[in-house]
Amino acid sequence: MTDQHWKNRDVISIHDFSREDIETVLHEAAGIVPNPDLLRGRVMASLFFEPSTRTQLSFASACERLVGQVIGFSSGEVSSKAKGETLADTIRMVEGYSDVIVVRHPLEGSARLAADTADIPVINAGDGANQHPTQTLLDLFTMEKFSGKIDGLSVGMVGDLRYGRTVHSLATALTRFKRIKLRLISPPTLRMPPSVLRELEGKIEYAEQEELDLTGLDVVYVTRIQKERFPDIEEYEKVKGTYVINAEVAQQLSPTAIILHPLPRVDEIHPEVDALPQAKYFEQAKAGIPVRMALLKLLLLGEDR
Ligand code: NCD
Repeated sequence: MTDQHWKNRDVISIHDFSREDIETVLHEAAGIVPNPDLLRGRVMASLFFEPSTRTQLSFASACERLVGQVIGFSSGEVSSKAKGETLADTIRMVEGYSDVIVVRHPLEGSARLAADTADIPVINAGDGANQHPTQTLLDLFTMEKFSGKIDGLSVGMVGDLRYGRTVHSLATALTRFKRIKLRLISPPTLRMPPSVLRELEGKIEYAEQEELDLTGLDVVYVTRIQKERFPDIEEYEKVKGTYVINAEVAQQLSPTAIILHPLPRVDEIHPEVDALPQAKYFEQAKAGIPVRMALLKLLLLGEDR
């Protein structure tokens, strides 16, 4: 690949990533170390119109470990959005103040709009229920680290497969790998959207079920029920607390299986599970640093640096 394949590229949807692209990021992330020169003088704008702890802080930390600067805000209420400014206008302004823009926004398609507006690279840090590509890259990094491979894994996704953007991106990414088996465990009202299921056809052997059966899985990817995305709060009340992984449920798992969760958790993983050797969700959150360092490096400097 030429330098230009990465330099200035947008990261909006995992659909734009080939297997080779994913492997490039994971490889780069595995070898990256803090560097006082790499991003010196560069500015990352961090525009979070929706709450975030991990994604926002790990992007900022990743940038600062490469000695770039960070500007931005962590709520639409403190930006000019509160005065009625459109996203496109905000992006046009911020483009003049920075070298790369990280944006999280409640509307699906907002990151694509931002990328179409700006000439500098835009990274989607989550657009509504749609996509969360950088979370997927760190999920894959964690799987490779603890399962030793991605090809051939049996992956269970548990919880809100309808509104959870992390599982949408991850399911698409897994179609780039070989012999993946996917068990989609959700209440009937929170099944994986048909558009994602269509992508799996012919590429991934998958099964949908309601029962919390984790036997035989290599990876259990647990998600929070996305309360804020339900049009009707009564529908949320009906499904909240459906699945709880506690120490007893975790006994279904083999010793080498891993439990992942993009976090934050509400009640779907009991804290007693944290001490089990299979619990890798805090390690997963840590992977946000090398993966986002690698991405910033690739987008701002290209592959050969
Ligand atoms: C996820 C998100 O924002 O989609 N969190 C994250 O980025 N780690 C998952 C969630 O909010 O449930």
